[in-house]
Amino acid sequence: MKLVTPLAASAAVWLCASLAGASAQDLNVLCGVDEDWCATMERTFEAETGLDVSMSRRSTGEILDQIRIEKDDPRIDVWWGGTGDTHLQAAGEDLLEPYRPENAGDALPWAQNFYRLSGGTASGVYAGALGFAYNSDILEKRGIPAPSCWKDLTDPHYRGLVQVANPNSSGTAFTFLATLVQLLGEEEAFEYLAALSANIAHFTTSGAAPVKTAARGETGIGISFIHDAVTQKLAGAPLVIVAPCEGTGYEIGAVSIVKGARNLEAARRFVDFALSPEGQATGAAAGQNQIPSNARAALPPAAPDISLIRMVDYDFATFGSPDRRLRLLDRFDSEVLGNAEPLATH
Ligand code: F6P
Repeated sequence: MKLVTPLAASAAVWLCASLAGASAQDLNVLCGVDEDWCATMERTFEAETGLDVSMSRRSTGEILDQIRIEKDDPRIDVWWGGTGDTHLQAAGEDLLEPYRPENAGDALPWAQNFYRLSGGTASGVYAGALGFAYNSDILEKRGIPAPSCWKDLTDPHYRGLVQVANPNSSGTAFTFLATLVQLLGEEEAFEYLAALSANIAHFTTSGAAPVKTAARGETGIGISFIHDAVTQKLAGAPLVIVAPCEGTGYEIGAVSIVKGARNLEAARRFVDFALSPEGQATGAAAGQNQIPSNARAALPPAAPDISLIRMVDYDFATFGSPDRRLRLLDRFDSEVLGNAEPLATH
C-alpha cells in the first residue's frame, strides 16, 4: 500500500482549492465601480478584517448575467457597485439575499427609499447623474460647435464622434436608455436612439469607457456618468462636462448579497463596511466622485452638485423591473444595434 506523503497531501489540498476556484477565498465579490476603487476597497477591507477577498470588476449587466447563470450554485457572495436598477431587477428575479445593514439608519432618504424598493435586499451606496463630456481640443480642431443638449448629439456634425456603452452590458447605458424613455416617451426615445446611432462608431462594454476615450482624444463626445467625467478632467483631460439642457437621469449605485452566498457572514461584514463612513471614503481615496449614501460620510471635494442639475424624477420601480428591462433591451437590439450603419460592439 502506498503512503500519502505530507507534501503530496498538501499538494492535493492546494489542487482542490484551485479547482474550487472562487470558493477558495473567504469572500468573493463582483465589483461594478471603477477598477481603481475596486482595488482600493479590496486592500482596505482585507486590512480591516484579515479576510482574503477575491474581487473582479465587471459591468453591471455582465454581473446580473453571471449571477443568473450561477443561480443554483452561486460562486459570488457580494455584488458591490453598479447601477441600482439592475440590482432591483435581480431582486425581482429572487437572486438576492435579504439583509438589513447595521448602519441602515445612517442612509440618506434616497438610499432608504431604494432599500425599501428592493424589498430589503439591496442598499444604496452612492448616487450620480448622467451626462456627457466633450473633448474641447477635438471639437475646436474640427471647427464644430459644442453640444449642450441630448438632441444636439444627433447632429451630423458629430458623425463617428459620439460614444456610449451597450445597455446589455452597461448599467450606465441602461440608465441612458431609461432616461430617454422617461424624458421623451418610449417611441420617441427609440427614434432618437436610431438617429444617434448614426453618429456612434462603437458601443463600449463599460459605461465609463466613453468619457475615458474622449479624455484620451480617441473620440469627441462620451456619454457616461458625470462623476466619471470629473475624474478624467481632474487628471488633466481637456473635457467639458455637460448636464444636458432637457434634463437627465441618475443612478443609485448599490450593494447586495447573492442568494445562497457561501460566505454569508463575511458578505454581511463587507456590506456593513461598504456602507460605513470608512468604507465610503475608499471612493474618494481612489479618485472617485460619486455622492455617498451615508449621511455621516464625507463628500468627495469634486463631487458634482446634483441639486444644480435638472433631473428627471427617475422611476426606479418601473425601470428596475425584469420585464421592462428585457423589453427595452430587445427593442434596443433590434431597432438600434440591428439597423444602424456602421456599427460595432466592443
Ligand atoms: O465607473 C463607476 C461607475 O460609473 C459607477 O458609478 C456605476 O455604477 C458603474 O460605473 C456602471 O458601470 P457600467 O456602466 O460599466 O455597468
